[in-house]
Amino acid sequence: MIVTTKQLFKIAYKKFAVGAYNINNMEQALGLFEGHKKAQAPFIIQISRGARTYAGVKMLENIIKAAEEMYPEAIFAVHLDHGTEEVAYECIDSGFYSSVMIDASHEPFEKNVEITKRVVERAHAVGISVEAELGMLGGVEEDIQVDEEHASLTDPEDARKFVELTGCDSLAVAIGTSHGAYKFSGGQGLHFDRVEAIQKKLPGYPMVMHGSSSVPEEEIRRINAAGGKIDPSAKGVDVNDFAKAIPFGVTKINIDTDGRLVWMRAHREHFQKHPENFDFRKPGLEFIDAYADFIDHKCEKLLSKGQLEFVRDQIKK
Ligand code: 13P
Repeated sequence: MIVTTKQLFKIAYKKFAVGAYNINNMEQALGLFEGHKKAQAPFIIQISRGARTYAGVKMLENIIKAAEEMYPEAIFAVHLDHGTEEVAYECIDSGFYSSVMIDASHEPFEKNVEITKRVVERAHAVGISVEAELGMLGGVEEDIQVDEEHASLTDPEDARKFVELTGCDSLAVAIGTSHGAYKFSGGQGLHFDRVEAIQKKLPGYPMVMHGSSSVPEEEIRRINAAGGKIDPSAKGVDVNDFAKAIPFGVTKINIDTDGRLVWMRAHREHFQKHPENFDFRKPGLEFIDAYADFIDHKCEKLLSKGQLEFVRDQIKK
């Protein structure tokens, strides 16, 4: 069942966070649905502009439609990740997405408000939720690279004004995370004081934490042991911080990089063990299993594991 992110956030707020995962192909979709079946958890499928170009808009839509038929019990939202205004309109008009992100965070405040407001009006007219972003995350996401010195945390009063002026349904806030596999150098980490200060200005309002892959050391070690060359300084968010962020209103947690690492580890280990193999279905199946286990573990940390039936009951009301 496809639902909006707004519906999910209303149910999850302060209880658990909904994991949002980017997909690009069939294997990721199968692992994602299988993992959430195992965990009995709701989730958000994220589609980036890069994924739309890579697989093709129709292909991705139909992969998700097929997965929905194969997993009729699943409850999820289909969300555009980091949309431009143009792509957000394409997704709204497609009738398939239940949620879009408009990311105009690189624009000055007033312009960000102006663009976001236009997207909100168009999306709300057809019942689609909108996520916007305020503040600047560091790291690499699609074609945008922001170095640490230009990253800036979200200002709590600006966040309040922004939500009031735009009517967006959730807000991606910059609270210390960054996109990609190299998040923290030295003693940086999540700024819980900042997220708490934003919540005080926006009580009951769902916040989104981008850049939340944990980049597990063990994953990096296994990839490198199987011939990879990932810089061992790669570092991510401590998965135990998810539960700490939930009471402060963080309700959606975005994870992309970790999924790519699982893909790389499963394929490298397979081909290292079976250098003679050229049947891609074998590592493909190993990846789907590994990804499903990875999702199940994330759901535990997001406190969304076992929430599926509660969510179904709440949606029916
Ligand atoms: P990661 O790079 O930490 O996986 O973040 C992904 C993300 O925020 C997508 O919007």
